[in-house]
Amino acid sequence: MRELEQNIEKVLITQEQIAAKVKELAAEMDAFYQDKEVLLICILKGSVTFFSDLTRVVSFPVMYDFMCVSSYGNSTVSGGSVRILKDVSVDIAGKHVLVVEDILDTGNTLTALFAQLEARNPASLKLCCFLDKPDRRTKPIEADFTGFQIPDEFVVGYGLDYDEQYRQLPYVGVLKRSVYEK
Ligand code: IMP
Ligand code: MG
Repeated sequence: MRELEQNIEKVLITQEQIAAKVKELAAEMDAFYQDKEVLLICILKGSVTFFSDLTRVVSFPVMYDFMCVSSYGNSTVSGGSVRILKDVSVDIAGKHVLVVEDILDTGNTLTALFAQLEARNPASLKLCCFLDKPDRRTKPIEADFTGFQIPDEFVVGYGLDYDEQYRQLPYVGVLKRSVYEK
């Protein structure tokens, strides 16, 4: 942990701020869903930490499922589709579906994913993102439930990674540029 922490420029969101925000989001969701049963889809791997905190504070009945997706192409390919590496294990038709994602950045991944999920005819389809980087958006997509809006900086921790590391940090920190610009 100490070695990882040396590469953090600054703590952007503390553990305490995260815990308070998760409760706030859960209250918003409780008001919205009331007693409806909701299928929560955790988008692997970045949202695992957020997902497990959130599921323990909402009051409506939930079912869990998991998806793993990867964007096609690279930054020179606009829009595109997503490749589903792992799909949900149930038919989402007629279900209230809430997708839980770590961060909404350009919006490419989620725009493509939502088009595919929408085609499966859920009763409702909503998006919850722990973090939102509005400055980077290239697609007109907004989350229905947002944790924190953050500036255009590369962040890690609380599930978010750089090269599969730093996910275990209990806070969100800005990664030192020297780590990824070397
Ligand atoms: P996009 O919205 O299609 O650009 O992709 C969002 C995905 O990019 C997220 O699910 C993350 O995996 C990754 N990502 C974007 N910004 C960051 C960041 O600051 N830290 C870590 N991962 C990020
Ligand atoms: Mg990632």
